[in-house]
Amino acid sequence: MLVDITNKRFCIFGLQGSGKSVLVKHILRAVPNHMVYDVLHEHKGFNRYLPNHRQFSREALAELDSFVNRIVIGSGLVRLFVLEEANRFCRPKPYPLPASILDLNDFQRHQRIAFGVVARRPTQLHSDLVELAHYLFIFRLVGKNDHQYLEAIAEGLGDTVRSLDKYHFVIVDQDRSYHVHEPIAYEEPK
Ligand SMILES: Nc1ncnc2c1ncn2[C@@H]1O[C@H](COP(=O)(O)OP(=O)(O)O)[C@@H](O)[C@H]1O
Ligand SMILES: [Mg+2]
Repeated sequence: MLVDITNKRFCIFGLQGSGKSVLVKHILRAVPNHMVYDVLHEHKGFNRYLPNHRQFSREALAELDSFVNRIVIGSGLVRLFVLEEANRFCRPKPYPLPASILDLNDFQRHQRIAFGVVARRPTQLHSDLVELAHYLFIFRLVGKNDHQYLEAIAEGLGDTVRSLDKYHFVIVDQDRSYHVHEPIAYEEPK
């Protein structure tokens, strides 16, 4: 495993096709009691939920809250929950976080569930998820706003992320130190 994500919160960022979901699979494989909210049907073979509502709406938030409360938190069995396409559900402030996500993001309350969110750009995600994350995994991003956002987290982070090679990513640690990681070993599904 890249880092120990037991009981940790993390975010994965990168543009479409950058390798986020390949990294998600790698992380899911390491935790048998995982669950992924598989918005774009990318995680066949994993423990996954395929939501009926895949675009931001009151119904989509209600479905997510219901699922997280019943299964992720309620079952007591899940040790890792990953929310794909999280920007569709956890929009930036002033939108509030969905109640169940707020609950899951509260480390004091759910110490046994690791929680990861996946989004294209940090600026499109509710900042509490980024600020309270133990780890950030970031593939190449070039936008000016994202660069600024990342530089505010750690000096040089925006520059590093801007010049990443294909499928390479940065891991930002809990103390906001960071390093570049090689691509995940990957085989095309047959
Ligand atoms: N580490 C990797 N090594 C080789 N190819 C990769 C790697 N990561 C991703 N890819 C290729 O890029 C495609 C898109 O990756 P994916 O993780 O689905 O992107 P994202 O979720 O960021 O949109 C994959 O289907 C695969 O073909
Ligand atoms: Mg994906």
